[in-house]
Amino acid sequence: MKFLHIKAQEEDGILTITLNRPKALNALNMLMVNELREALENYHRVWPNTRAIIITGAGDKAFAAGADIKEFEHLDVQRAMELSRNGHTLMQLIENAHIPIIAAVNGYALGGGCELAMACHFRIASENAKFGQPEANLGLIPGFGGTQRLPMLIGKGRALELLLTGEMISAQEAHQMGLVNHVTPTKSLLPFTRSIAKKIMEKGPLAVKYIIRCVNAYYNPNENGMELEISHFAHLLPTAQAREGIRAFLEKRKPNFHALTDDQPTENNT
Ligand code: CAA
Repeated sequence: MKFLHIKAQEEDGILTITLNRPKALNALNMLMVNELREALENYHRVWPNTRAIIITGAGDKAFAAGADIKEFEHLDVQRAMELSRNGHTLMQLIENAHIPIIAAVNGYALGGGCELAMACHFRIASENAKFGQPEANLGLIPGFGGTQRLPMLIGKGRALELLLTGEMISAQEAHQMGLVNHVTPTKSLLPFTRSIAKKIMEKGPLAVKYIIRCVNAYYNPNENGMELEISHFAHLLPTAQAREGIRAFLEKRKPNFHALTDDQPTENNT
């Protein structure tokens, strides 16, 4: 698969997707959004060993400094709607992925860049990372889900302050607010993120998929997360993966889920 503005490389089951426009601080132009979508819609076919995805930025300055402002001029309502909807579709694809997608934030994560990081299942930041939703500085509002995911992650008051002032916060502040899970030295960012991805890859793949789905359901007013959890728990229990995990515990050995990745619960809600 050939891309112009992203790089994608799979190694040991981890697909690393790098936003690759360092001269423009990896600003998310329309092509980059489409390429991300293409990679994420097809990863299981193109890189079939993939069991976790890391998204990061090229260079040492930025994860992504936002949507590409240069593309904003002259957009009418309809084209602006398309741009925003495309961004939302990408973010939902990330959020609802069946495998973990982790943002390794290596510099500015502003506007659409912060929104991309927030759509990932969680975020690890290097100590030089900076976060913000500066759209109000442009007379705009976030267009890729920032008004929704920021309050979800850090609470309404703090989200409104960031959104309304347009100010940036440091990696440490983002950590204190719960926007990022860990802050690492710049050099350690990718190795550390990979080590967390590897821990998750040792777990039962169906369990990983259903944990993501149940947690997402909590934030979806159209879903009953408690009922979903009951159903997924019940349907997972008799699967070969759960049987293997339980047997391994009782036999005091590590479970081997790898041979069992095609195992699916019988109910048609997978
Ligand atoms: N879009 C397009 N180009 C961008 C960009 C963006 N979001 N951010 C940076 N660039 C470009 C700059 O135009 C510049 O390009 P040229 O060399 O061709 O002039 C290059 O990247 C380097 O940027 P700076 O010279 O500005 O670098 P700096 O170190 O002085 O400042 C910065 C860094 C503070 C991040 C600054 O670039 C900046 O404020 N960028 C814009 C951030 C922003 O407003 N993001 C929100 C975008 S709107 C959005 O994202 C809406 C949405 O929700 C969908």
